[in-house]
Amino acid sequence: MEEKQSIHGAWASRWIFILAATGSAVGLGNIWKFPYITGENGGGAFVLVYLLCILVVGVPIMMAEVLIGRHARKSPINAMHDVAISSGKSGLWSMVGWMGVLAGFFILSFYSVVAGWVLHYIAGMGVGDYAAISSDDAGKAFEGLLSNPQTLLIWHSVFIVMVMLVIAGGVEKGLENAVKFLMPALFVLLLVMLAYASQTSGFHAGWDFLFHFDPSQLSWESILVAMGHAFFTLSLGMGAIMAYGSYMPKKTAIGTAVITIALMDTVVALVAGLVIFPIVFTNGMDPGAGPGLMFVTLPVAFGQMPSGQIFGFVFFLLVGIAAWTSAISLLEPAAAWLVEKFGWHRIPACIVLGLIIWSIGIAALGSFNVIADVKLFGFTVFDFLDFITANIMLPLGGLFIALFTGWMVKRQISEDELAFSANAWYRAWYITIRYITPVAVAIIFVFNLLDTLK
Ligand code: PFF
Repeated sequence: MEEKQSIHGAWASRWIFILAATGSAVGLGNIWKFPYITGENGGGAFVLVYLLCILVVGVPIMMAEVLIGRHARKSPINAMHDVAISSGKSGLWSMVGWMGVLAGFFILSFYSVVAGWVLHYIAGMGVGDYAAISSDDAGKAFEGLLSNPQTLLIWHSVFIVMVMLVIAGGVEKGLENAVKFLMPALFVLLLVMLAYASQTSGFHAGWDFLFHFDPSQLSWESILVAMGHAFFTLSLGMGAIMAYGSYMPKKTAIGTAVITIALMDTVVALVAGLVIFPIVFTNGMDPGAGPGLMFVTLPVAFGQMPSGQIFGFVFFLLVGIAAWTSAISLLEPAAAWLVEKFGWHRIPACIVLGLIIWSIGIAALGSFNVIADVKLFGFTVFDFLDFITANIMLPLGGLFIALFTGWMVKRQISEDELAFSANAWYRAWYITIRYITPVAVAIIFVFNLLDTLK
């Protein structure tokens, strides 16, 4: 078969693809969101469901996204369209790509607000604001930040500009090199934090909280949140990984690459939990404290450590970078589409997209102060954007991608792209993506809906 190339470029090697996709996967979802939603949903039972979702739903869908992207070598909207047409199916499948672009806008607009908090903490750690801070004062410092729309707006704007700059430059070496060094550095620092947390008196309580399975803690809603988070943390269901797949070398084995990415992502989330919960229990804090959890616990820990301010500074810096390498993948599908469709240069494409997302983000950051009373379906704007994307749009996008790859795409295409050394692996994937993945996602949706209507 003749080999297609993307007009946007290609990753230099298989490892660059793995690093870029890991850069997309590992982000605020792992270090900020995973611990706090685990805290809100009662701990171990939630973690187990999340791990099952990664395995049964996340990994097969990630393989599907990569194979569609690589086969079409185009942005997700066009990739879904082209693969549908070459399989003799309706071009309307491109709607899945459209929903992904919308989900990307929504996610990035609140993601950027949280990344803005991280930038604020980098600066604060840098000037020693949190030296020897008590847990009460750390809570007050965080609340003080949220109640200040100007500060939030500045950092949100800075982050959006950072994302636009990378996307404007294209999928180039700068990002590849950054990811290559920064992801391992983040990993090492997490391990340093883990070593610290393991010395605290709350380590056992933290461990138990994360790994003790208590089924009474599970509700349909918490199962939905666990599944939604599996999509969110692996960057699935909206085309980010599909776009990255379109720049992937043809010879790279998709299965092992995907498993490597999912493993690294999972390990980072679990280690983040093992850092944060021991600090929570040692200091008598509340694990269900919500989105502020990381921003309140970590400064307390750094405040008590020798050279804590330096560690704190470097740590938040790496969290910021992890957020950055994720955020660019949220914008790439839409930017690539604008370039393909209208022949635009990347710079105007980024400016238009950046402005749209920046504006939605302003409503998200206002949720903590000036428009705190504005509710959509009972949620603040920030919570609404988070809930509807992670728990509805990404799983729905993933469900369609699974149905599409399992039932619509010609077998020859998926066989050719996956090309496992053993046919049994292909068959296992094929059965999973056709039956197990869609049924699992559908069951969680339906039961959650029935539960809500009750
Ligand atoms: N996976 C990222 C994280 O865990 O922080 C967030 C994310 C990036 C979600 C890209 C979705 C996406 F397409």
